[in-house]
Amino acid sequence: MTRTVVVTGATSGIGRATARELAGRGDRLVLAARSPATLDEVRDECRAAGARAIAVPMDVTEPGAVAALADAARTEFGGVDAWVHTAAVMSYGRFDETPAEVFEQVVRTDLLAAATVAREALRRFRDAGGGTLVLTGSVLGHITAPYMSGYVAAKWGLQGLARTLQQEARETPGVAICLVNPGSVDTPVYRQAANYLGRIGRPPPPIASPERVARAIAHCLDRPRREVSVGRLNVVMRFGFTVLPGVYDVLVGPLMRLAGLTRTPVAPHEGVVFTPNSAGEAVRGGWLPDPARVVRAVGGRAATVASAVRRRLP
Ligand SMILES: NC(=O)c1ccc[n+]([C@@H]2O[C@H](COP(=O)([O-])OP(=O)(O)OC[C@H]3O[C@@H](n4cnc5c(N)ncnc54)[C@H](OP(=O)(O)O)[C@@H]3O)[C@@H](O)[C@H]2O)c1
Repeated sequence: MTRTVVVTGATSGIGRATARELAGRGDRLVLAARSPATLDEVRDECRAAGARAIAVPMDVTEPGAVAALADAARTEFGGVDAWVHTAAVMSYGRFDETPAEVFEQVVRTDLLAAATVAREALRRFRDAGGGTLVLTGSVLGHITAPYMSGYVAAKWGLQGLARTLQQEARETPGVAICLVNPGSVDTPVYRQAANYLGRIGRPPPPIASPERVARAIAHCLDRPRREVSVGRLNVVMRFGFTVLPGVYDVLVGPLMRLAGLTRTPVAPHEGVVFTPNSAGEAVRGGWLPDPARVVRAVGGRAATVASAVRRRLP
């Protein structure tokens, strides 16, 4: 079935991978984020894959912008069948060393704007007699880690909001709310984050690809589920956090510094918390080997070995 799907956060990472995935399935796409040029690129990628797609540059934290986005979907495609919300920003730093306005904008973007999206989507679904909302949480909505207080607070809040909406949706047949909770994913979010810690962040291993999360999101649109976890260690981390909180708290700081931060120094900066950086936007963040480069490297090495063997043959 062809659906009209709004994707908020479509210019980078998981949102962009989701747009590509849904374009391949023939869905009609309404693509939104702040960077107009990157958004046009994503729209063109989706059209090249055979999908009908429009780009609507907007900021999810701006009053009225989310309603205007839903109106654009109605004008272009007659309504909204599903909404995938992936827009978010991140900030690294001790809570007491992070500027209050940065902390607040992270919470505004990652939690309050998600609530605005949910409000608008649910209103449209109710009028249309159904629809599916996919929110993107994180394993950090179930556990905590130091130096990411705004992000963690927002993701815990989103967890509570999603569960509440799911309970209320029992009264509105046809309306589904899914929460997809990734662990570490190879996206640009780590380098785009604000930073007051002095070292650039990185996704701690094991790292999933954004395409894998995108497939989980697309699957939720086909068969809505309450919560989907993507990440091999998510269950282990939740178990440790819940059952052994003392041990967890002793280990999480050193592990975060070891596996969650690079050695690359960085001066304090706001990242993309207030303004986008189109130069840093892509599907992948470069933390996993690029499959195309691996194939080329393996192919090149195989060709070299084959020609060396041929030279030695009589
Ligand atoms: N990457 C991970 O390891 C990971 C792990 C767990 C959960 N997640 C969650 O997955 C979701 C996607 O993250 P990602 O890693 O794909 O991040 P990403 O690559 O940085 O993409 C974030 C997207 O959000 C958009 N955005 C940010 N602020 C916005 C605003 N105010 N208005 C509209 N759009 C805005 C960005 O575009 P513009 O800057 O152009 O606006 C971009 O398209 C987030 O909810 C994140 O918390 C990610």
